Order: sequence, then structure tokens, then C-alpha cells
Amino acid sequence: MESSGGPKPSKTESIKIASEYLKAFLAEEVGDGKTHFSENAAAVLKFHGSYQQDDRDHRTQLKREGKEKGFQFMVRTRVVGGKITAQQYLAIDNLSRTVGNQTIRITTRQEFQLHGVAKQDLASTIRTVNKALLSTLAACGDVERNVLCCPAPINDPAHRALQGDADSWASHCAPRASSYWDIWFDGQKVENPLLPPAGPILVPTPGDDPVEPIYGKAFLPRKFKTAFAFPDDNCTDIQANDLGCLGIVENGELVGYNILVGGGMGTTPSAQKTFPFLAVPIGYVDRADLLKIGEAVIKVFRDFGNRSDRKRARLKYIIHDWGVPAFRAKVEEYFGRPLADPKDAPITDVDDHLGWEEQGDGKLFLGIPVENGRIKDQGTLRLASGLRALFTKYQMDGRLTCQQSIMLINIDPAWKADIEATLQEYGIATVEQISTVRRWAMACPALPTCGLAVTESERALPTILDQLEVEVEKLGLEQERFTVRMTGCPNGCARPYNCDIGLVGRSASKNPDGTPGPGTYTIFLGGRSTNDRLSVEYKDYVPFDRVVPELAAVLARFKAERLGEEGFGDYCHRVGVEELAGTAAPSPA
Ligand code: HEM
Ligand code: SF4
Repeated sequence: MESSGGPKPSKTESIKIASEYLKAFLAEEVGDGKTHFSENAAAVLKFHGSYQQDDRDHRTQLKREGKEKGFQFMVRTRVVGGKITAQQYLAIDNLSRTVGNQTIRITTRQEFQLHGVAKQDLASTIRTVNKALLSTLAACGDVERNVLCCPAPINDPAHRALQGDADSWASHCAPRASSYWDIWFDGQKVENPLLPPAGPILVPTPGDDPVEPIYGKAFLPRKFKTAFAFPDDNCTDIQANDLGCLGIVENGELVGYNILVGGGMGTTPSAQKTFPFLAVPIGYVDRADLLKIGEAVIKVFRDFGNRSDRKRARLKYIIHDWGVPAFRAKVEEYFGRPLADPKDAPITDVDDHLGWEEQGDGKLFLGIPVENGRIKDQGTLRLASGLRALFTKYQMDGRLTCQQSIMLINIDPAWKADIEATLQEYGIATVEQISTVRRWAMACPALPTCGLAVTESERALPTILDQLEVEVEKLGLEQERFTVRMTGCPNGCARPYNCDIGLVGRSASKNPDGTPGPGTYTIFLGGRSTNDRLSVEYKDYVPFDRVVPELAAVLARFKAERLGEEGFGDYCHRVGVEELAGTAAPSPA
């Protein structure tokens, strides 16, 4: 813990402690009839899975008319490993139409997000989510967030074991205080058979809090994220997480994990003390020690993380400041013995799990691409209606992927033709019908909901991809796989710092009517589609309509200069992004 006389704790720290395990402030305001919460209550609300937001498209207009902001809430549902039943999908779909904005967002962390929920509907929304045996508890806030796991429903011992371990870890470190049930359920705990009760503490430390022995009364200094993956399928992007559990498989069985620590994307360009960081390996543990090592890492973070400066509070900064050996030694102290060295298990590939595949038990699964994770009906695309029809008719289970897509699983091969016809009927493109560049692209929500966005992202990426598809085709690179990820600010929610092409919102602009304009972007190059290398800034403050011409110029060089089958990210890394920055893009006509 921060020693007395040290730097002053941040305001959020005081709110967490004063909230008495995340209850005070919020409990008093839930039913007060107002449209929004006070700042303190909104800070506590995050831990319950919701962000207070306002409609930024209409901010200026409302202000001009002397009206209050258009307050609304984002409600995030944790979905451990992205595993859902048809009933759960249909419950979220129903909420999106009754209290949300008619869309569901699949997030980059295998969750559902509802947008546009009014404060008066918040309690019933949270209750409905829990009745469907999903939860919003700890979907946001300074806690262990939704736990990611490779969602492939492959019926082999290694996949089953990995997904089971992710479930155990998620339930082990779910918050234990009763405030969630007290506030939203009049004190009645919903028994969720999918989540076993939290297990006993494995790494007791002096002074552990009796109510929240893992977190303590002040919870963690900042958010904490965990992902599980296999070396040959890094679909959860484990190095972007605080804790990465890389499954080691021997003779078809999952025997243990390489433990990686300290990943995190968020950065503030004006603060040099902040930077994106990829998780580094500190050791190997057998499966039996998974919960114990996880707890040891979380507790080191709890006790030594920065609680005065939230910009420097993530785990990555402890590791950066101490160095890996000192961090490993501290974790070993909590763990109770030295860690074995990590096994030799380099990350070799990422599978986005799209298209038809066999599960290995006679059943099939189908991964359906969802552009930017947004499930909606718009024009001829009736994705929301089509998915509702399929889940209603076949009652199959589903999975959410970290690429914001959805899988229908446990499909009887006899249903295949009808499912394909249904997709066609509802205008839903299969993976074979979209371009490779669109397949591997993703964007964060940004405007109009995210209060931190400086530029567009989700609404802008389709235009960028339309233009990029033309350029890529001109160059004959349509089959080339490279990842494009866009965000509306440097916080990096769509993980733009370790892919082939990262587009990060840099500065805002305004349209003549006061609505947000296209803004400028920073372009990052030199990461790669296996997500295991950070990219480098290529050009800064690039106006929206110059983004694709800038990229086209580099793609043309790539085409001319690549060595053999070299990928785009590897090419940029080899040649050097600084050298590429001299590449002249054709100037605007
Ligand atoms: C470090 C500072 C960060 C802050 C303050 C932040 C804040 C936010 C906010 C306010 C939203 C809600 C946007 C909306 O739905 O309208 C959001 C969405 C989200 N963030 Fe972050 N975020 C940060 C970093 C990250 C990082 C590094 C990741 C993952 C690598 C991440 C993952 C997500 C996910 C999965 C969503 C849901 C939407 C999506 O899939 O894009 N966030 N974040
Ligand atoms: S990256 Fe920035 S703009 Fe995008 S959702 Fe995250 S915080 Fe909002």
C-alpha cells in the first residue's frame, strides 16, 4: 500500500474508499428521478458495469437551446470467454430494442454493450441481464475485467481445459462485497450456475480485507485485464493484457501456462511517462497453480501500483520502473516459491474463427463477421433481425470473439443449408463475401457515445475501408492479410498499437453546425497481425481524407520491395517506419 507521507491519493481513490465497497453515492441516487448521476456516483457506477455518457451529436444544439445534456448510459455485460446461450443472446437483443438504441455492440473483449439506456431503465436492465445469467458486475472499474479466452468450440481436451480455467479464474476474482446485489436486487443474490462461487483466498497477505480479500477496500489502482490463448492462436491478443496465460499443450493435454504480465495500450501523447506496452513472460506454472499465480500478480499490483496518478497506474508502469527481474522476484515472494522459466512457446498465428468449421464432435460452427461489432438493422443489412431469427429457430449456443464477431455453435450439419439461406435473406455477408482488409479491421465506438473520443472511429472506418479496398485492388494485394484498427482517441480500446496499421484519433474538428467534424489521426505502422510487436508512429495529425493516400503510398512500396511472402507489418518493421515516413503520398488534386 502507498506509505503514509507518500504522494496524495487521486480523487478516485478517495471515492472508492468512501463508497464502502462500491455502494455509497450510487445507492442513494439510483431512484432519485434525475436523468443522471453526480460525479462520485458515476465513478462508483463503473464498477457495476455502466458508464454515464451523453449524446455528443446533439451536445452543441442542446446547449444552444439552454437544455441539459442528453444523458444516456452504456451498459456492459461480462461474458467470460465470450460464451453465450441462445436465451442470453435473445435477452440482450430484447433489451437493445426496448431500452437501448436498437443496436448491440460486441466488444473487443468478448462482451455485449448496450448504448443509449436511460437512467430510469438502468435497474431493470441490470436485473434482466442477471436473470439471463449474465452479469454487469465488474465489467468496468478498477477490478479484474471480463476474462478473455479463445472461443473456438473445438471439442478437444486442450480447448475445454483452457475455457474451464478461464471460467475458474473469472469467478475466483469477482468482487465479493454485496453492494451489487444490495443496490440492484434489494439484497437478493442471483445464483448463477454458470459461475461457481468464488474460491478461498490462495495467497493470504497480512492485512487482507475481510470483505474483499483480493482487492481490498480501495480495489485495484486501475483496471486489470486477463486473457487466455494458445501459442498457435493468439486470437485474444494476450500481450495487450495485464495478465496473459499462454496455454502449453503436451500430447494433446493442457499442462500449464506461460505467464505474461504488464500489457496495456492506453497512452496520453502529451505525457511522455505513458506508453503502450506488450506483456512480457515471467515464468511457467502448472495448471494447478493458475489461480495462485494470478492472485499473486493481482496482489502485487494492488500493493505497489500508483494510486496518486491514474495515468501511471497500470501494471505495466510497475514493470517498466522496476525491471522484469525485480517484478518477477516480488511475484515469487507472494506466490511463495520461485517460478520456473517460461517454456519456449512463440506466438505463431491468430485465427479469427470465421466461416464454417467442424467442432470435432460431429457438429459445426459458423463464425459471422460483424463490422465493428455493431449488430443492427440498416438498409439491406438486417443483421439484428437475422441473428434473432437464427437463435430463435435453432436455439444454438454462441460465442463472441475478440475481433468483435459472433459464432453460432453446436450446429447440426443438416441445418447448414437453411442457415445459409437465412443469412442471404437478411443480407448478412459471410466471411467469403467480404474483403480481406475488412475482415481483419476493427474500430472502437468513439463518437457519439464515448466521452473521451476526439474523432470518429466506428462511423469513419467503413469509409476508410471502402477507399482502402480500391487501393489494395489496384495493387493486386486483395488477398494480403493485414490488420487495420482505428480508435477515436489514444486510449486504444481497439488495440491499435500492435497491429499492421493503427489509426488513432489525434485532434478534433467541428462542422459549421457545431457537430464533431472529421478531425486528424496518427498513423502507426510496423506491428503485425499476430499482435506480438508494437508499432511505431508513422505520421501525426493526418487529416481524415489524407489517411488512405498516405497508406496507399506505403502499400505501393511494400508491393515493390517486399521480400518473398513477407507480410506488410514485417516489411514496415524491416525497412523502418522512419525511413517509410519519407515516402511521398500523392498530393490532393
Ligand atoms: C486507458 C484508458 C482507457 C479508457 C479511459 C477507456 C475508456 C473507455 C470508454 C469510456 C469506453 C466506452 C465507449 C462507448 O462505448 O461509447 C470504452 C470502451 C471500450 N474499451 Fe476502453 N478505455 C481505455 C483503454 C482501453 C484498452 C487499452 C482496451 C483494450 C485493449 C479497452 C477496451 C475497451 C473495450 C473492449 C470497449 C468496448 C467497445 C469496443 O470494443 O471498442 N479500453 N473504453
Ligand atoms: S479508444 Fe478512446 S474514443 Fe475509442 S472507445 Fe476508447 S476511450 Fe473512447
